[in-house]
Amino acid sequence: MIRIGTVGTNWITQQLVEAVALSKRYTLAGVYSRHQETADAFAQKNQAEKSYTDYETMLDQANLDVVYIASPNSLHFKQAMAAIDRDISIIVEKPAFSNRREMAAIMAELKQHPAVKYFEAARHVHTPNFKAISKALMALPTVQGAALTYMKYSSRYDKVLDGEQPNVFTKEFSGGALQDLGVYPIYLAIALFGQPENVAFFPTIIVTGADGKGLAMLRYGDFDVTVNFGKTSNSYALSEIYGLKETITIDSAGELTHVEERDASGQATDLSAAELANPMLPEAEDFARVLEAPDDKQNVADYQRWLQWSLTVNQVLFDLRVSANLKFPADQH
Ligand SMILES: NC(=O)c1ccc[n+]([C@@H]2O[C@H](COP(=O)([O-])OP(=O)(O)OC[C@H]3O[C@@H](n4cnc5c(N)ncnc54)[C@H](OP(=O)(O)O)[C@@H]3O)[C@@H](O)[C@H]2O)c1
Repeated sequence: MIRIGTVGTNWITQQLVEAVALSKRYTLAGVYSRHQETADAFAQKNQAEKSYTDYETMLDQANLDVVYIASPNSLHFKQAMAAIDRDISIIVEKPAFSNRREMAAIMAELKQHPAVKYFEAARHVHTPNFKAISKALMALPTVQGAALTYMKYSSRYDKVLDGEQPNVFTKEFSGGALQDLGVYPIYLAIALFGQPENVAFFPTIIVTGADGKGLAMLRYGDFDVTVNFGKTSNSYALSEIYGLKETITIDSAGELTHVEERDASGQATDLSAAELANPMLPEAEDFARVLEAPDDKQNVADYQRWLQWSLTVNQVLFDLRVSANLKFPADQH
């Protein structure tokens, strides 16, 4: 069994813990929270071996194979470095790192610790529906672009409207709509089409100074991908990938729960796989298989592909911010 520790006690960590339990391939060896009460409650609810209020103590004492990092974005880097230094693999929530400099430092550290694996928790690109989209894309006679949307009103925006500064809406924590939701359609575009040649970002800046919504353009050689995302309103628009007369439609570029292909006459074929028991189960299983058999040929190839996606997404997110002159305090360190 893979010994996993967790950072963060919000709902996403709960979902991950349930996913790893469903996979039956991990043991919850340690739970870290800044507060004893939260740490104990989370550990008890999920039958963890032990709770910790000091992160490095967990890394030193819990005998972990891997740590799942689901803290605010700007904290990922330091927490990831501390784990790699101790030869512990890392699953880092998206977006893994705030900028190119942090990503480069992580890559250099991984070189010094070759047994350590780094995974970015981009759940949607591990799902059967992502594979269905990739397969349908390969069968298109040509690709003429895509329009990807992921826009969900955040309950935390109510707090912003009440004058508060929730982490996810602050530049201090490397937050904002691009980092939080835009990353999903951008990940999808990069996993499907590769690295764009040029990018541009048109953000709507809210009172906290972060972007509340935005439009990103990814320019490929002979087609464009437009990405529409936000946390201050809801969109019910389908995402679409354009062939010649065929169109692939996706209910949401972040969730990928329903995928169809329409032929030249508009007739739809449902390509969706069965509903997932837990949206994080496919990634939990993918990461487990690499951790269990890192030298397996297929696992080596998959790991390299995920790593390349993560590097490209990090670069594109950074380039998008540069195009809009949107800076984070983490960029100055
Ligand atoms: N894959 C997905 O579907 C998905 C969904 C949601 C979020 N995420 C990602 O998960 C990460 C966490 O997001 P979130 O919305 O859960 O963030 P959050 O609520 O702001 O913080 C997450 C956890 O970090 C700790 N924390 C909060 N503020 C902190 C601070 N100032 N200093 C140190 N620790 C702090 C808290 O744990 P303790 O109080 O227990 O220490 C909290 O439970 C982000 O990277 C986000 O993008 C991914």
